[in-house]
Amino acid sequence: MMPVEDFERELKERKEQGLYNTIRKIGSPQGAWIIVDGKKVLNLSSNNYLGFANHPRLKESAKKGIDDYGAGPAAVRTIAGDQLPQEQLEEMLAAFKGAEAAVLYQSGFCANLGTIPALVTEGDAIFSDELNHASIIDGSRLSRAKIIRYPHLDAEALEDILKQERGNYAKAMIITDGVFSMDGDIAPMEKLADLADKYNCMLYVDDAHGEGVLGKSGRGIVDYFGLQGRVDVEIGTLSKAFGVVGGFAAGSKLLAEVLKQKARPLLFSSAPTPADVYACMEAVKILQESDELVNKLWDNAKYFKESMSKAGFDLGKSQTPITPVMIGNELTAQEFSKKLFERNVFAQAISYPTVPKGKARMRVMISATHEKKDLDFALEQFTAVGKELGVI
Ligand SMILES: Cc1ncc(COP(=O)(O)O)c(C=O)c1O
Repeated sequence: MMPVEDFERELKERKEQGLYNTIRKIGSPQGAWIIVDGKKVLNLSSNNYLGFANHPRLKESAKKGIDDYGAGPAAVRTIAGDQLPQEQLEEMLAAFKGAEAAVLYQSGFCANLGTIPALVTEGDAIFSDELNHASIIDGSRLSRAKIIRYPHLDAEALEDILKQERGNYAKAMIITDGVFSMDGDIAPMEKLADLADKYNCMLYVDDAHGEGVLGKSGRGIVDYFGLQGRVDVEIGTLSKAFGVVGGFAAGSKLLAEVLKQKARPLLFSSAPTPADVYACMEAVKILQESDELVNKLWDNAKYFKESMSKAGFDLGKSQTPITPVMIGNELTAQEFSKKLFERNVFAQAISYPTVPKGKARMRVMISATHEKKDLDFALEQFTAVGKELGVI
């Protein structure tokens, strides 16, 4: 029997503290304007950076995937075999990333849960940025390696820690988000690569929010820093800029071989569907053909951020299209989101535990699907609510 009173008390506390999640009903495909709970609103909440989630070419490809290979794989890859397109997508992703090989997972979350424990274990160490994503934290815990956190983005502090700790462990790995999803800042990859060399560590970056966004035609963070061959693992997700669902790990042929033997989501959970795989192959093709959408995304982000800063908002330390609008108090952030929605703008308040207590914010996700007039509308509504709630 579930201890009903305990759970009810916990849920009540969450509501009182402004920490209770309410999942909205989306009544349309993803895009600049969407139907949320029956109302047409400007969408500033999704990770649909390039508009691929409802792109005609991806939709066509997904349908072809179903026609060619059916609705689902009906099996774990290592038990019933690979359908051809999964391997094809792995090859395309590796080439896109400038890596030797890539291994496909069911999601970015699964990619971290599978890859980290395949590479380190008890007696090893993980040096982890203190603001790393939940899936890195969970993957690290599953590995049973010692987790040693370092201050956010602080390579100097990490070096001090490495000097003291590295000698106590067999294998070691430095792990970081590439783009931090709640702040939009970027990991100092060159410094981390130097430290990985100097202290004999593997280097692991989760590029979930860099893919399709950073680097040439959205090739991601390793391309952005020109670090090909110096990063052991580059995790990607196919559910943000790629607009579909799935994840992968890119790196050496050896990495791929190890993961295909040891990564548990690959050994014990079914493969992504043919529709997902075909749609993702089309996304890679579009990015290889042109950087038009990536450029539009960055133009939009620059335009919106400059206007919001001029209006007096604190946008934190973002270096990417992820735009946090800092509020502080959790209840004010929830109120902000509610008032924006009344004004036909869908932007989510992000609070603890996703970000630290007292650092609640509105998280604005800019997309290439937005037109300038959409961003002007957003600015107008943010300014009105910001003044009403005393944020600006
Ligand atoms: C840094 C990071 N890694 C992994 C994930 C999980 O990706 P997916 O949605 O594909 O499971 C996210 C998504 O929020 C993320 O921000």
